[in-house]
Amino acid sequence: MDFWAEQAQRLHWDVRWSEVLDWSGAPYAKWFVGGRLNVARNCVDRHVEAGFGDQVAIHWVGEPGDSRDITYAQLRDEVCRAANALVSLGVRAGDRVAIQLPMIPEAIVAMLACARLGAPHSVVFGGFSPSALRSRVDDAEAKVVITADGQYRRGKAVPVKAGVDEALAGSAVEKVVVVRRTGTPVSMGERDVWWHELVDPQPAEHTAEAFDSEHPLFILYTSGTTGKPKGILHTSGGYLTQVAYTHAAVFDHRPGEDVYWCTADIGWITGHSYIVYGPLANRATQVVYEGTPNTPHEGRHWEIIQQYGVSIYYTAPTLIRTFMKWGEDIPAKYDLSSLRVLGSVGEPINPEAWRWYREHIGAGKAPIVDTWWQTETGAIMIAPSPGSAEFKPGSAQTPVPGISAVVVDDAGKEVAPGESGYLVLDQPWPSMLRGVWGDDARFRETYWSRFAGAYFAGDGARYDADGDIWLLGRVDDVMNVSGHRISTAEVESALVSHPAVAEAAVVGAADATTGQGIVAFVIPRGVAEVSVQELREHVAREIGPIAKPRQIMVVPELPKTRSGKIMRRLLRDVAENREIGDVTTLADATVMAHLKGGVSSQR
Ligand code: WT7
Repeated sequence: MDFWAEQAQRLHWDVRWSEVLDWSGAPYAKWFVGGRLNVARNCVDRHVEAGFGDQVAIHWVGEPGDSRDITYAQLRDEVCRAANALVSLGVRAGDRVAIQLPMIPEAIVAMLACARLGAPHSVVFGGFSPSALRSRVDDAEAKVVITADGQYRRGKAVPVKAGVDEALAGSAVEKVVVVRRTGTPVSMGERDVWWHELVDPQPAEHTAEAFDSEHPLFILYTSGTTGKPKGILHTSGGYLTQVAYTHAAVFDHRPGEDVYWCTADIGWITGHSYIVYGPLANRATQVVYEGTPNTPHEGRHWEIIQQYGVSIYYTAPTLIRTFMKWGEDIPAKYDLSSLRVLGSVGEPINPEAWRWYREHIGAGKAPIVDTWWQTETGAIMIAPSPGSAEFKPGSAQTPVPGISAVVVDDAGKEVAPGESGYLVLDQPWPSMLRGVWGDDARFRETYWSRFAGAYFAGDGARYDADGDIWLLGRVDDVMNVSGHRISTAEVESALVSHPAVAEAAVVGAADATTGQGIVAFVIPRGVAEVSVQELREHVAREIGPIAKPRQIMVVPELPKTRSGKIMRRLLRDVAENREIGDVTTLADATVMAHLKGGVSSQR
């Protein structure tokens, strides 16, 4: 506990806590009990007060080539104006604000303005469909939605507000604030207000209130094993302590010296913890890039690193594999000598990608920190130390100091070196989730019922002979596509909502670029022709383009056990072109023959 008390000193507390951890209400933890702080002040104002107002907080790079450097003093003014603007709309501490914005400075400003007011934000990834946005807005009962007219994607302006209008038709949302980014024409209704008309005239002074350490900071939805996404709740003091600590320790971040760049989107937890809260709490100077990595050319990231002298670069294995495909001659054209620490997150990094990253981006010597964590853990939990003597490509290696993670067998007993089992976290940690929004039963059931007294992460893992941890992927029905979590149930329910589909089963199949690819098996309804292309588009409309199946196979039957459970293991064998495994528990053993023979598929 002394360890975390020491880490909490990284922050400014208006009122110091009286107790580091109260675990008496487990699995609901209270960290830094009685402490009071304002998260936004910690991320912005205190750096200005300490004399760093002129330091650049954000080197923002727009996709079409525009850019903005924002200092901590400017960021403070913007956050104060936005906070005043939200107050003028009636937002008070505790009210929820939904944000669906591209990677523009206003996204970060909006999040910090909410934090400043103690109004939990719920950021919804820009790639999610109107119906996905609506279900999140409704679940959190958001009062205000902040969005943009449009966003740049691969060199094109695409509409955003139009989708938000569709999502919010007939909803209880009171106000919609619209940032002008692309100039895309939008229809402004009665509850709509332009960001620049609302925010710009506001005073740049706002007195931040200190909130309880356990005051809700944000809700972020993530996929679980059922069709309905879970609203993961994070609170203030413990969360900020652990993201600040891990950002400093795992990346060896030095304020005022480093230029840091995390390539995630703020719509995911990585963006929350390692673009917004961790780096800003640590007074980082960071790059924020709006667009795709190959717009206008495949060297865009390396060009940005060269231009800004980026020293810490944090990205995902799926992107590294994409860079590999594009070829090493592309990064070779740029000066990447400023890079001194590289990071990876989202899925296990395959050793080949690790070696390429080290060799062609890290000049054969930059440490690579492979960071394991989750939306639920809030911050990095397992990662090698950047000063480690020995890196093992493909292994996240060891829990960070202060964290306990163990690999256990079915009975919850720790396995021996060389053996595999399930990853559990057997001690509470400051940035742990504080529940599933509005669903206590699901919180307890999903995370705390499998192993007594420990948090079940849903990942398989193995100890090597040295006791280092190797992550083996999800053990539940959650897929990992390009580092994004998508549940099989969510895609299945999108498919069966199409009139031409009677039944659907979805599996994640190994994919050389995206880690896993979504493969769907559908039984058509009646004799109607099923257009596979139409079904793929239907899933994209229902959930978002990231959930589009890579492949859809139209089949006469699905393999089921006698109790009617779909045997996904066998479907995965088909999807990955493997020999079909053990079929003895099938209700009808001939199904697999029909499946293999009767498949009509399309990629
Ligand atoms: C799941 C969490 C943490 C931010 C990005 C994803 C997988 C994540 C690693 C890693 C092996 C990893 C796990 C985990 N995962 N990082 N370094 N090595 N697996 O957050 O969407 O909440 O997904 O991503 O399966 O459970 P998320």
